[in-house]
Amino acid sequence: MSTPRTFAIHTFGCQMNEHDSERLAGLLVNEGLAPASSEAEADVVIFNTCTIRENADLKLYSALGHLKAAKAARPSMQIAVGGCMAQHERGRILERAGWVDVVFGTHNLHEAPALLRRAQTQGPIVDVADAPDPVVNRDMAPALSAVRELPWAAWMTIQTGCDNSCSYCIVPDVRGGEISRPLADLVAEAQMLAASGVTEITVLGQNVNSYGRDLTKRRPLFAELLRSLGEVEGIERIRFTSPHPKDLRPETIAAMAETPSVCPQLHLPLQSGSNRVLRAMRRGYTAERYLERLAAARVSIPDLAVSTDLIVGYPGETEADFDETLAVVAEADYDSAFTFIYSPREGTRAAAMTDAFVPDDVIKDRFERLKLVLDRSALRAHAAREGRLEEVLLEGPSRRSADRWSGRTRQGKLVHVDADAQMRPGALVEVLVEHGAPYHLMGHVTRVLRPPRHKVRIALSVS
Ligand code: SAH
Ligand code: SF4
Ligand code: F3S
Repeated sequence: MSTPRTFAIHTFGCQMNEHDSERLAGLLVNEGLAPASSEAEADVVIFNTCTIRENADLKLYSALGHLKAAKAARPSMQIAVGGCMAQHERGRILERAGWVDVVFGTHNLHEAPALLRRAQTQGPIVDVADAPDPVVNRDMAPALSAVRELPWAAWMTIQTGCDNSCSYCIVPDVRGGEISRPLADLVAEAQMLAASGVTEITVLGQNVNSYGRDLTKRRPLFAELLRSLGEVEGIERIRFTSPHPKDLRPETIAAMAETPSVCPQLHLPLQSGSNRVLRAMRRGYTAERYLERLAAARVSIPDLAVSTDLIVGYPGETEADFDETLAVVAEADYDSAFTFIYSPREGTRAAAMTDAFVPDDVIKDRFERLKLVLDRSALRAHAAREGRLEEVLLEGPSRRSADRWSGRTRQGKLVHVDADAQMRPGALVEVLVEHGAPYHLMGHVTRVLRPPRHKVRIALSVS
């Protein structure tokens, strides 16, 4: 028997891209390929790209540059570029990196294995669809053969694309309009995942609160989806990202509060605290409205951990605007945050405002000041957990030290505990928190709540 060709997938970008990579890996495994032990040794290297900010683009070209010599030494190696940047850049990728064999987009990921096969005889191929095919997007059958990193945790894309038009953002251009997957399919997928031992599901979409609007002629079904997933036996933790603040409805908050398996965790991207900037960004809410909704969520959902996304240096952002951001961030009292420096994306409204661009040194200074406020609230939130008992899902040995194991609390917080020979990945344990640092908690296991549930590493496969 000949040895199978091997593949490696290098993913940039968000969780939706990570999940696309898992689905792609499943398709390749079903084609008879095997995961390679390293990118350098792989017969097929696939880059699943992101284009949200300029540095995401730069990272791809640098990674492709590193492979140029390997490809020259081993011409049978195939290099493919897929994902958001490929969708956007199309043939331009081959112009800058002529050693790439296949370029495919976000809308035809399922065709990647066939394109790789064809390119072996035909030479380089660029195949990017202009628009997503709703039938393919709604079906997403390969989700069931996804090769997951953690056998007990799964991502579930409930919706692709975005119907909003935030002035800085390239995503609607790249991923197209919102397409929701049918609720019954999602519940069936969750049941199959649970049957394979998955205990945690993270629901993904660019604007999850509007899930279902395209299926029902405007009535969102997100709250219903949360409640339905909450009934799937074996699924103990449900998370989701991202809800848009303008669409965070009382029924979603109620569904979170009343569904025990929905985790007390909310990622609510603020972007800016200045109403002037929010209007220019076309976000559809004011800082006051945002804080009101957040307060309502906190009242209904005890012990809610809140995180956010913030953009520093949006064109025209003044010192007064930035001060408002600092004030709203302080009031929101976040557990954690992703902070981004504004990056102009060609074709977006904001990118045309070149005369209002904020100088780099001003942005850098604001970025540091913002981080100070965020670190303070993160530390406060974590210090408040010292002495408490937390339910932790163990993941495995910590990346930094073999003496420690890592896991996540229901709030999604990273916890390190002292390692012990009895520990098993996927087990649920109780941890006494001894120390709260800005980005993690430390503690020790007091008892095992349940052993791991998953059966095999590659949990599901389609025949
Ligand atoms: N759909 C999600 C966001 C997905 S993109 C939402 O609206 O909540 C993730 C984050 O990237 C955004 O929340 C924003 O903070 C950041 N981002 C998007 N475009 C950007 C740009 N051009 N420059 C800097 N940050 C950007
Ligand atoms: Fe981009 Fe706005 Fe859509 Fe989020 S909601 S993906 S920031 S356009
Ligand atoms: Fe990037 Fe595409 Fe996600 S642009 S952030 S990988 S949707």
